[in-house]
Amino acid sequence: MSINLNELIKINPVFLAPMSGVTDLPFRSQVQNFGDNLVFSEMNASSEMVYLLKTNKQVFQNEIFNRKNGPVAFQIAGWDPYIMSTAASLLEERGVQIIDINMGCPAKKVVKRYAGSALMKDLSLARDIIESVVKATSLPTTLKMRLGWDEDTKNAPELAKIAEDNGIKMITVHGRTKQQLYRGIADWNFISKVKQNVKIPVVANGDITCFDSAKTCLRESTADGIMVGRACYGRPWFLSKLSKFLLKGTREKDPDLLEQKYIVISHIDKMLSHYGIELGCRLSRKHIAWYTKSLPNSCQFREKIFAKISFGEMSSEIERLFDHATEKLAA
Ligand SMILES: Cc1cc2nc3c(=O)[nH]c(=O)nc-3n(C[C@H](O)[C@H](O)[C@H](O)COP(=O)(O)O)c2cc1C
Repeated sequence: MSINLNELIKINPVFLAPMSGVTDLPFRSQVQNFGDNLVFSEMNASSEMVYLLKTNKQVFQNEIFNRKNGPVAFQIAGWDPYIMSTAASLLEERGVQIIDINMGCPAKKVVKRYAGSALMKDLSLARDIIESVVKATSLPTTLKMRLGWDEDTKNAPELAKIAEDNGIKMITVHGRTKQQLYRGIADWNFISKVKQNVKIPVVANGDITCFDSAKTCLRESTADGIMVGRACYGRPWFLSKLSKFLLKGTREKDPDLLEQKYIVISHIDKMLSHYGIELGCRLSRKHIAWYTKSLPNSCQFREKIFAKISFGEMSSEIERLFDHATEKLAA
C-alpha cells in the first residue's frame, strides 16, 4: 500500500537527511534500530542507477532490499527527465516506497551537469523533471531543495508551488542558498514563505543540532516536520530521542558508554557484511571517529584506527577506548 506522507509526518515528524558517503544502508539501519523515523538514502545519479538496475548489479539490489525496519525514501539526481523517470519506475519495480528528487546539491560536478541545485535556475526543466518522474510511478514523490541559487534569487516558494501543482507530495527545504554551500546559518524563517505557498507538507532542514534548536526551527519555519543530517554523525539514536522530545516532551539522555560501545560494534558489523571486510573496515573509520570524538584519548585512538590495522585490532582498540572512558567516569 502506498505511504501517505501527510499521515506519516504527523506520526513522526523527524527525518534523516540524505548524505552522500554517510547515509548508506548500514547507517540508515542503525538509525531505524532506534525508532521509526523516515530515512533518506544518499543521492544516486539517475543515469548510473538506470545502468545498475537494468544490469541487476548485486550491490545496488542490496541497497534497496535490505530495508527491514521502516520506510526509506530513495533520492535520485539528474537533469534528463526521461532518465530520471526511468530510474523512478525501475526503483518502483524493485520495491522502493518513496522517490525523492534532488534539487539542492551544490557540488560542482553535479551543478555543472545542470542537476541538483542548478535546477533552481531553470524552473522549466525542473517542472519537466517533476512531471515525468511523478507520472512514471504510483509512488509518492518528494523534492528536496535549497532556498534558491543565491541571495538575489531565493525562489524556493515558486519551485515548491510548481512541484505541488505537478504532483509532488512533500517538500524539504535546506535553509541556505546554493552559493552559501554550508557557510553562514540556515534561514528557518524563509522556509515559512515556502510553507505559505503550498498545502503539501513542508520539512525544514539545516543546522538542527539539539532538542531546543529543533523546536525553534519548527516555530520559525512553521514547517510540518524537520530533517536532520550532520547532528546524527556518530549519534544514530539522536533522531528517535528528538521525536520523543517533540511528540511527548521527554528529554532523554544519550545511551551510556557501555551501550554506545555495542552500538559502534553493531555498526561495524553491518558495514562488514554490506561492503566486505576490507572496504567495510576502511569506510567504518570515519563513523568510529565520530562515535568516539568526545572520549578521553580519542586523538591517539584515531591515529591508531586510521593506520592500516585489521578488523580484529580495530575492535580491540574500540573496546579499550570505551572501557578506559567508563573507568574514568566511574573514578
Ligand atoms: C556529507 C554530506 C553529504 C550530503 N549529501 C547529500 C545528498 O546526497 N543529497 C541531498 O539532498 N543533500 C545532501 N546533503 C545535504 C544534507 O542533506 C542537508 O541538507 C545539510 O547537511 C543540512 O542539514 P544539517 O545541518 O542537518 O546537516 C549532504 C550533506 C553532507 C554534510
